[in-house]
Amino acid sequence: MSHIDPKRHWEAVYGSKAENEVSWFQEEPATSIEFIRHCGGGRDVPVIDIGGGESRLVDRLLDAGYGDVTVLDLSEHALEHTKARLGTRAQSVSWIAADITAWTPSRQYRLWHDRAVLHFLNGAEERSAYRRALLDAVAPGGCVVISTFALDGPEKCSGLPVARYSPESLADRLGAGFTLVESRRHVHHTPWRTTQAFQYSRFTRLH
Ligand SMILES: C[S@@+](CC[C@H](N)C(=O)[O-])C[C@H]1O[C@@H](n2cnc3c(N)ncnc32)[C@H](O)[C@@H]1O
Repeated sequence: MSHIDPKRHWEAVYGSKAENEVSWFQEEPATSIEFIRHCGGGRDVPVIDIGGGESRLVDRLLDAGYGDVTVLDLSEHALEHTKARLGTRAQSVSWIAADITAWTPSRQYRLWHDRAVLHFLNGAEERSAYRRALLDAVAPGGCVVISTFALDGPEKCSGLPVARYSPESLADRLGAGFTLVESRRHVHHTPWRTTQAFQYSRFTRLH
């Protein structure tokens, strides 16, 4: 199989499709917001959305009063579209165009959110790079919310092969240092009315 360059892939997706023309589009990222609320810690905690793309999570976090929000994504197109949607509110957000597997955080966050990003990492090296970034970015006691396709979810997302997880296999993937606190199955309805099974899990980074 020929190698697909992830940045080229995602720039092509966001350069050619409208917000609601991708399978993962959500008008309301309700389960993410609920799990983030369960993290506690108030509205001044630093939050990072990994692979936020064009998700409206950042809008909802700002609506809810979170004052220290960062969005990271491989795709500059996606970040530019999200900034345009937010208008002047974009100025209060930190934007990072980077590949999570090659990113070195320059500060720490209390809350890490990832919906449908880790599940694209299929190689041992990139998974371990993701875990390294997570350990560097999230302070002990911090909260980690990760959503992936569930075990009975699709085998591909955006045409790319994905790894599917249960909360337990995801906990195994994160390994020592993270405790699984809460998980939920969520059936996502795509814009073309098909369904996709996701799992959402919330972890605490141990001291
Ligand atoms: C399926 S989309 C999900 C987007 C968003 N989290 C949401 O829920 O709408 C996957 C996102 O991950 C980003 N992405 C994929 N691989 C990445 C990587 N290695 N580093 C950073 N972002 C990545 C893509 O650009 C895309 O925005």
